[in-house]
Amino acid sequence: MPSPREPSSPVRRFRCPSTSRLGETAPRSDRKLSSEAAGRPLYDGRVSASLDDLPLRPDLRGLTPYGAPQAPLPVALNVNENTHPVPEEVADDILDSLAHALREVNRYPDREFTALREGFADYLGHGLAPDQIWAANGSNEVLQHILQAFAGPERTAFGFAPTYSMYPLLTRATGATYVAGTRGVDYTISAGDAAAQIEEAAPDVTFLCSPNNPTGTPLGLDVVEAVYDATDGIVIVDEAYQEFAPRDARSALTLLPGRERLVVSRTMSKAFAFAGARVGYLAADPALIDALRLVRLPYHLSALTQAAAVAALRHAPAMLAMVDDIVGQRDRISATLDALGYEPFESWTNFVLFAGVDDPAATWQGLYDRGVLVRDVGLPRSLRVTAGTEEESTAFLDALASLGDGGAHPGRS
Ligand SMILES: Cc1ncc(COP(=O)(O)O)c(C=O)c1O
Repeated sequence: MPSPREPSSPVRRFRCPSTSRLGETAPRSDRKLSSEAAGRPLYDGRVSASLDDLPLRPDLRGLTPYGAPQAPLPVALNVNENTHPVPEEVADDILDSLAHALREVNRYPDREFTALREGFADYLGHGLAPDQIWAANGSNEVLQHILQAFAGPERTAFGFAPTYSMYPLLTRATGATYVAGTRGVDYTISAGDAAAQIEEAAPDVTFLCSPNNPTGTPLGLDVVEAVYDATDGIVIVDEAYQEFAPRDARSALTLLPGRERLVVSRTMSKAFAFAGARVGYLAADPALIDALRLVRLPYHLSALTQAAAVAALRHAPAMLAMVDDIVGQRDRISATLDALGYEPFESWTNFVLFAGVDDPAATWQGLYDRGVLVRDVGLPRSLRVTAGTEEESTAFLDALASLGDGGAHPGRS
């Protein structure tokens, strides 16, 4: 599976100057202050060691950390965030809840995040009970908990490439091996092919990203059923973008009854416009939830996170009000890309992958120079763009059109 990649020169050029080779990003002034306070000589800002000098786990050597650029551009459409802010009236209620929680922040939070699980069970519906819900700091941590419990050394996890770039990283961090399967034309997966690949690989954990990132591709529930029947392992359906799918699209939540190895994960980072709060969740059999308790850190969800998420869930319809608008922009982006001669792939998400880009690195840079940040996910002749507000989407389309047919080429400005 291709690793997440941006053209190398812009990443270097725009890297935060205080970022060391070890990935440490604290501003230098902060580090100086803490040395001073400890009575030690001031750190002179030079990097003194590299990973090669440290007794790092051998299986982590050579790996690259997740690193989508966080550049301060006017139009940032590279990590599939919801670019609409939380509505004012909801923000006020969240602030009230945070103020209340703050008064008791001297105590550890509710380890079982009871109110939050009730909120997610209500939101998801499908007859789910709170003991079927788990939550963590982003769905990345939710996925990590599953892998910690069911993958690990001597075990394997499997995903159909290209898919979410964190699956291999999270898998390897638990000491497990990641196996990349394949997709068909237009990045679709058929039930028969998927089941055959799973039978051959016999993974302990299977990721099904539905709809898929970075391609936007929908996934039929027949594929989920076929994969589940083809394995004795855990099957995760990652529905991070489910709210952007057509209203009548059935969720894998409908398949949970009677399937104790099936997990459906979701996030508040996308449709809910809550990426900065870091809240992800899943629904599964209560026994599977018990397994996750074995690996989570005690009190892993802070009282402030719980309070903010519970308050946001109370306003779910307002929080999700921009979904239709984003879907409208997504479809406008696809139609305009098509008219410009590119090849957008079908998307049930808040982003569009499009092919027909002659030189993705040059086009990425050309857009960057025009103040628009998109994602080069390493797929041939392709780039991925998040659907933003109407203004942001227009800015992207105008910038791309200004680069000429097929995007930017070296030597053509
Ligand atoms: C498919 C998929 N799953 C999970 C995540 C993680 O989301 P978060 O950790 O913000 O909940 C993302 C983020 O982009 C994603 O694309």
